[in-house]
Amino acid sequence: MVMVLYTRPPTVEVYQGDLFTSPCESLIVPVFQSPDGKPVVDAVRDLDRGGQLKGASDLGFFKAGVGEVFKVYVDGKLVIYVGLGRFDDEWFRLLENARRGIAGGVKQVVESARCSLLVLSRLNPDVAREALIAALLASYRLEAFTSERRRLIEKVLVDRGDLDLGYVLAVVEGVYLARDMANAPPHELPPRRLADMVKELFSKHPNVVVEVFDFDRLVKEGFGGIVSVGKGSSEKPAMIMLHYRGSSEPPLALVGKTVVFDTGGINIKTGESIVYMRSDKAGGAAVLGAIWAISKLNLKANIVGLIPAVINVPSGESYLPSDIIRMWDGTVVEVTNTDAEGRLIIGDAIAYAAKALNAREIVDLATLTGAIVVALGPLIAGLFTRDERLREELLEASRRTGEKLWPMPMEDDYKQWLTKGAMVGDIANAGQRVGGAIYGALFLERFSHGKPYAHLDIAGPGMGYEASGIAPAYWPDKGLAPGYGVRLIIEYVLSRIEKPRAQASS
Ligand code: BES
Ligand code: ZN
Ligand code: MN
Repeated sequence: MVMVLYTRPPTVEVYQGDLFTSPCESLIVPVFQSPDGKPVVDAVRDLDRGGQLKGASDLGFFKAGVGEVFKVYVDGKLVIYVGLGRFDDEWFRLLENARRGIAGGVKQVVESARCSLLVLSRLNPDVAREALIAALLASYRLEAFTSERRRLIEKVLVDRGDLDLGYVLAVVEGVYLARDMANAPPHELPPRRLADMVKELFSKHPNVVVEVFDFDRLVKEGFGGIVSVGKGSSEKPAMIMLHYRGSSEPPLALVGKTVVFDTGGINIKTGESIVYMRSDKAGGAAVLGAIWAISKLNLKANIVGLIPAVINVPSGESYLPSDIIRMWDGTVVEVTNTDAEGRLIIGDAIAYAAKALNAREIVDLATLTGAIVVALGPLIAGLFTRDERLREELLEASRRTGEKLWPMPMEDDYKQWLTKGAMVGDIANAGQRVGGAIYGALFLERFSHGKPYAHLDIAGPGMGYEASGIAPAYWPDKGLAPGYGVRLIIEYVLSRIEKPRAQASS
């Protein structure tokens, strides 16, 4: 089976005619909640033919709280009222409420209804835009690996013409692409095939240059971390470099951990959750999706994406515990655990960004440690940085997009772990269990060579690991990876540009 990355989002069209004579079978109608806990029926009174909404409100049956849904059949249409919560809620929560409310409504659309009309004209434009994005994200299905098409909605109509659809579609396509890549089964996407697909994908984006470092080149140029981790598989490693040059300043480097599958290697993982390790490439997926969107939006920024791709498996050729690795920058790392592989591959890429590409700043996204999931749970990523501006702007981006991120410490006193743990080399790749996520961050920081640097440990929300059942409705079902980080990066890049949202390309 040849898989096709990537799933296309539903089409979006503006429709400003009569709401009950559109070609759509269903209408999704967001409703706010007043301070006395009742739906603001007045705002949608014209749609409430027959008064069911009013009746449900009087009965206290529908209160328009976030995630509440009330479905009725009116004049040949399935009308799905969705609660958005209090209209006087705090701004960022309002955006998130709109995303969750609409997404919950989309998931109520019956299979036979292929088109949904979103009634967004009564919302603030920013709230409406977020609602539309969430509706499109909620209709995602991982279609590439099913024998039948499973997309929920084919077409979305919106009843207002002032939304920036170029931005909306760029974001949604970027997230869809990241989800497809992050969730792909390992043998559908070995490193070389991933590289070929990325080339193919961007062949229609002339503003992005894709360069692939094949195994021979990685060996020749001394990428010891990538080569060591990747050589155990018959599917050899590759590093994909995406250069989007929308300005002439030194580049922002985005590094994404791409372990196509992480068995742990000789320190093999046990237990059922190993199947989630198909998504140990969620960092690379986020970088890919973000650059896809940024190139579609033609943003004024210079960005290099580095995607080192490997499969971490035990074999006669695998790297071994107690091996030493000479990294790209010359650091000698002692392998104390072959399951701490992510830091070895992105350590090389971070050093390359700092020294060969002269990056202005470096941000990595990596499903790096189980420890961060223990600390923050499945919905929140950890942010490690010493740079105040990076911290503030990334946290601000996180508030805008709803991708949860929490600052973690770069504790100097723990740096001694790196050196003390090595019997032979300069530093050890893994230490003891306590403080495991901080260890990973301090390890990676060494390779940034003084450049402004931020590390996002996205092991929880990147993978969707144990998030099933508590994840917001715009995430995919079944605990699949949600494409975490794509929006965060786009918003971060936008925040650094004076003139946001340049003309979108087709
Ligand atoms: N990809 C895993 C991290 C991970 C574990 C993500 C569980 C989501 C759930 C990473 O490569 C890994 O195995 N890390 C080790 C590091 C340890 C050996 C120092 C871990 O967290 O156990
Ligand atoms: Zn891993
Ligand atoms: Mn591992």
